[in-house]
Amino acid sequence: MELKTVDLAVEEHGEGTPLVLIHGFPLNRRIWYPIVPLLKNKARLIIPNLRGFGESPQEVAEYSMRLLAADVLRLLDRLNVDKAVIAGHSMGGYVALEFAHAYPHRLKGLALVASQADPDSPERRQARLITAREVRSRGIRYIADGMPPKLSTNTEIQKQLNELILTCSVPVVVAALKAMADRRDANLWLPEIQVPVVAIAGLQDQLIPAEKSHSLIKLVNKGWVVEIPEAGHMPMMESPQKTAEALYQLVCAANGC
Ligand code: MLT
Repeated sequence: MELKTVDLAVEEHGEGTPLVLIHGFPLNRRIWYPIVPLLKNKARLIIPNLRGFGESPQEVAEYSMRLLAADVLRLLDRLNVDKAVIAGHSMGGYVALEFAHAYPHRLKGLALVASQADPDSPERRQARLITAREVRSRGIRYIADGMPPKLSTNTEIQKQLNELILTCSVPVVVAALKAMADRRDANLWLPEIQVPVVAIAGLQDQLIPAEKSHSLIKLVNKGWVVEIPEAGHMPMMESPQKTAEALYQLVCAANGC
């Protein structure tokens, strides 16, 4: 099947080992800003917006995690990056896992931040399809108001997330929800991953519990969990120092420091 990829909007900082930071749903690359000053002198940060988010093209046909991973590959080609460490937050982690499966020769290391390898349970899948219907009928506010308290208990961060979500378009949010509902079980290929893997888990995460990080790390060849006790679903915003340290530790394991 031909994957119709697009050129993603991207920003870059620093030089050294390429470290791609992929945002989660329904957000954009700005979530990574708190860690940029902490890492830009240590790695080449490549921070895209997934298709339809931020200024990236809104080609809304069917979304799939596989297609979003192919967009990331196209970005690496465009930037002449042979191999990269890929870090994905939540849905960005689902994309990073597809990337690891489809393009292992382009991967140096993998970070899954507040993410998981499991597919949706039937109940979760159903709930997503209901959310998609509600967003279609009530507009983006439905999710912009409802989701931030589940992402973080920090009210300042909730406000920032509300503003980010309000920039999203309804068709893109609906397409991403359907793609998450249909995503594959990445546990099946975790044992094939040959590069180091870190799973970064906020112990206050209300959306994806930290146990998901432990269960996925058990299946990889070389990996470890970093728990952040005070963080919820947004460790890069809630605890930037610890998140940056965990990512740098992975860069060192993947490429030497
Ligand atoms: C995300 O933060 O990217 C999503 O909430 C993940 C999910 O709903 O599975």
